Amino acid sequence: MNDLRNQLFYKFALVVFILILIFEGAMLIALKKSFDIHLKDKLALVATSINPKHFTPTDLINIQHKYKVFPLFVNISTADKKFLKNIKLGFFINKTADKKERIISYVTKKGNYIIKISTFYSTNEDKIRIIRTISLLISFIIFLIVLMLGYKFIDTVVTQIEISFKKLKNFNSNVSHELKTPLAIMKSEIEVALMNEEKNCDKILYSLLQEINYLNDITEKLLFLTKNDLQNCKLKEVDLEEVILELYEKYSNKIHISLHIDENDEYIIKGDKTLLKMALSNIIENSIKYKALKIDIILKKTKNKIILTIRDNGIGIPKEKLPYIFDEFYRVDESHNKEIKGFGLGLSIVKNILKAHKAKIKVKSEKGVEFIIEFPLKEISNH
Ligand SMILES: Nc1ncnc2c1ncn2[C@@H]1O[C@H](COP(=O)(O)OP(=O)(O)OP(=O)(O)O)[C@@H](O)[C@H]1O
Ligand SMILES: [Mg+2]
Repeated sequence: MNDLRNQLFYKFALVVFILILIFEGAMLIALKKSFDIHLKDKLALVATSINPKHFTPTDLINIQHKYKVFPLFVNISTADKKFLKNIKLGFFINKTADKKERIISYVTKKGNYIIKISTFYSTNEDKIRIIRTISLLISFIIFLIVLMLGYKFIDTVVTQIEISFKKLKNFNSNVSHELKTPLAIMKSEIEVALMNEEKNCDKILYSLLQEINYLNDITEKLLFLTKNDLQNCKLKEVDLEEVILELYEKYSNKIHISLHIDENDEYIIKGDKTLLKMALSNIIENSIKYKALKIDIILKKTKNKIILTIRDNGIGIPKEKLPYIFDEFYRVDESHNKEIKGFGLGLSIVKNILKAHKAKIKVKSEKGVEFIIEFPLKEISNH
């Protein structure tokens, strides 16, 4: 992954460098153009402000200061009409006799006077050089800052990818592990059956069926967890009280359930009834599995939420393990749980379903376990 980090960084640095070069180039061209236009405008203005009939050295100094053109050369001459017709007017750039300086000139005519205004073009170039140095310095600082920010950004993204990659790897190894055990049991059962030539056939078939049920259960749970359209499921109005009553019907012959529901209130949320039943079934089945004799289900309504509490009196969960129980494949104390089968997927499913309902789940454990689920009342987005 460090390779990926470096590769991304080098590519990013190259792209930023090229972009800054393009920007610098474009800026310098634009700058040069605008300076040229500015200088040409000044020369043209100087020409219009000159009165060729009365032009004194004082006028020259005044004009120089007014238009800030240094040095300024003014050449006024007269010519006959024929010559005037052929004279080329406009802007010209020439070199000085010693070829050291470039001179920009503007030639115009007023009456039968030809006015030629000139200055060193290098005054412009000097200014451009100063601005170019400053802008290169600024660009270099910006380049360094962008590189630093870019590196931080790339580092965060790659770290996230690393975490997801690790999770995926863990998930895969957990899945393989969960599938390996029943497959190994089935293999050895079949081998024993083949060796003993079908004595005890019923017992072996029963054991195989149990393992197949186990495999079926885990594949269903895994498929459910990897389904990615859960967060986009269509939510309709669901009566939570009705959901709880249906679950009561289903489980009251397996465990004692006390319902605490104020019948004067309405408990309508936007949700998916089947998914909600699946989530709450997982919680109730855990209570049954983890040796509870009794479950209290409390439904309350506040100003902006509905609070559903499911409390049991089973073996409970140690406080330090509580933060992990919603993680995939997490089981509290495997040795303690050994005789109780499970994959550690049930509460991950609960978490995902509740997330799709924008509901929050908290868990406490003193004697038994208490799950507190908060469903938002208003404005549950319907995807
Ligand atoms: N009501 C409960 N009482 C005691 N422990 C619980 C209870 N609910 C969950 N746990 C603990 O939390 C762990 C995670 O529960 P979860 O439902 O995700 O997995 P599981 O029940 O072990 O397996 P699965 O539900 O996938 O068959 C359990 O292994 C158990 O240790
Ligand atoms: Mg479970």
